[in-house]
Amino acid sequence: MFSLFFLLWNTSTEASSNQAPPMAKPNCQQLCGVSIPYPFGIGPNKDCYIDKWFEIECRNYSGRHKPFLSQ
Ligand SMILES: *[C@@H]1O[C@H](CO)[C@@H](O)[C@H](O)[C@H]1NC(C)=O
Repeated sequence: MFSLFFLLWNTSTEASSNQAPPMAKPNCQQLCGVSIPYPFGIGPNKDCYIDKWFEIECRNYSGRHKPFLSQ
């Protein structure tokens, strides 16, 4: 019984680790204190986010970068 549970648990973690980690598109800024995954994006171009409502503005507060929705 325990081994069956372990097998299922192990299989599910294996499956989730095979998924690509959330990340920005190529040639787009990925980090703003935290990692910003697509469909959100910082830029520099409009292909980095799915819609202008998803555009992230990276603000610098005394050396700490924090993401904000720019709209
Ligand atoms: C952010 O601000 C700090 C100090 O306020 C400054 O030293 C740093 O160069 C700034 N970083 C950027 C990327 O502008």
